[in-house]
Amino acid sequence: ANARVTVHPEARIDRIEPELHGHFSEHLGRCVYDGLWTDDTADEDGFREDVLGLLADLEIPVLRWPGGCFADDYHWEDGVGSREDRPRRRNLFWAQGREDVPEESNAFGTDEFLEFCERVGTEPYLAANVGSGDPQEAADWVEYCNYDGDTELADRRRANGHEEPYGVKYWGLGNENWGCGGQMTPEQYAREYRRFATYVGSMDNLMLDHDLELIACGFENHEWNHRFMEEIGNTNWGVEFPLDHLTLHHYYGRTMSIAEAGEEKYDQFLVEALEMDYHIERIASAINAVATTRDIGVIIDEWGAWHTEAVAENGLEQPGTVIDALSAAAVLDIFNHHSDVMTMSNIAQTVNVLQCLVETDGDEAWARPTYRVFDLYAPHKGNDALTTTVDTPSREVEHGDDDLPFVGASASVAEDGETYVTVTNLDCRDGHTVEVAIEGADAGDADVAAQVLFEGQDPGLEAGASNADEFAADDLGVDVDGDVLTVDLAPSTVAGIS
Ligand code: AHR
Repeated sequence: ANARVTVHPEARIDRIEPELHGHFSEHLGRCVYDGLWTDDTADEDGFREDVLGLLADLEIPVLRWPGGCFADDYHWEDGVGSREDRPRRRNLFWAQGREDVPEESNAFGTDEFLEFCERVGTEPYLAANVGSGDPQEAADWVEYCNYDGDTELADRRRANGHEEPYGVKYWGLGNENWGCGGQMTPEQYAREYRRFATYVGSMDNLMLDHDLELIACGFENHEWNHRFMEEIGNTNWGVEFPLDHLTLHHYYGRTMSIAEAGEEKYDQFLVEALEMDYHIERIASAINAVATTRDIGVIIDEWGAWHTEAVAENGLEQPGTVIDALSAAAVLDIFNHHSDVMTMSNIAQTVNVLQCLVETDGDEAWARPTYRVFDLYAPHKGNDALTTTVDTPSREVEHGDDDLPFVGASASVAEDGETYVTVTNLDCRDGHTVEVAIEGADAGDADVAAQVLFEGQDPGLEAGASNADEFAADDLGVDVDGDVLTVDLAPSTVAGIS
């Protein structure tokens, strides 16, 4: 063996919140229209049954909507009530240069989104408009969705077909307010956040049976996060306001074209994906520096591969490939390692856009390789993460400061004591034999089963309607010797061992 993974069952990290496998969908390109919703291949309400089915099978835990940059230009009242009466608006950020989708019809609005979530069986997460909206509008949205009393807004929801409150728990206050959400300084956003949180938080106090979780949007620039948290930490003469999670967005691979990439580019791309680890540590430290009395979770609100193919004019679409899926596996391992600080993460963007899991073309919909990775990692959800150390060869990456470690892994244990280990071979050139040692366990007595993804496939291989099934998991042979399991991992593969 040339790599060794050691799992330390005595060293539990924390629960892997199922929300670490969450999603993000924006009114951008074909994500909502043609992805979640369409007039052509829909059931009677306009939902795509095929997409609904694929997402329901994956048991996605949370879905963030309506943006993204779109969120800070969105006025939720445009998207409720009779569809014929809804106003058409320009899509400020994502229609630029696109003649085919110049406007937002508002056909898919709050009630459609929340019904979609109910059908998929996922928790909704709404991102309120801070950039061009006001606190009243945000508080009204909470009232429309969640209030059960005798008010005009609660009655409007009932008239629109939803008698019971939806009970939306997650509320984001703004998106990238350092950029498209208003170009605010950290101090400015902290003040806006405080103002919005006062009104939205008061709605929470009013509805005693709800428990809202409020989310602030941070930045990949960690100095910005520190200054935001400092300003937030300055309570107003001892008066605190709600802040439950702080987020950042991490995309990688921006300079790589899938069509032109080769092995060296793949290495660099994967190293960029692994920088997720650094960002989680830095944002957690920004929180810890200030939030002594509060428990504030880290959310990676948007993440994934973003290649040069994804240009605004094509609605940020790019091919769904094995190399992207491999990066997702590496990132999900990192999330597991940080289960003590992380409360959620949302890959961008569920359908058709960026590193989506599901792609559509006319009346066809299929799972991309990244979907297979989420499926393989699903047994980790809700388990306790275990400290895992990896001894692996690596390769120097041209033009980069970091080497690419070939083998990555994470492990977790379920309530019934069953351990689950995921192992990646990020080396796109060579196979590696990996020993997995679970300290103190005698695997010889247990039934060991393993599955592998992407064996024998080229990293640049793209999934389409006709070959999507070829990316499904295969059984993988495991050699068991006491507490040591040995697997042979072909180049660019991912394995799950239980
Ligand atoms: O996901 C695409 C865009 O990326 C989002 O609108 C924005 O939040 C981020 O910059």
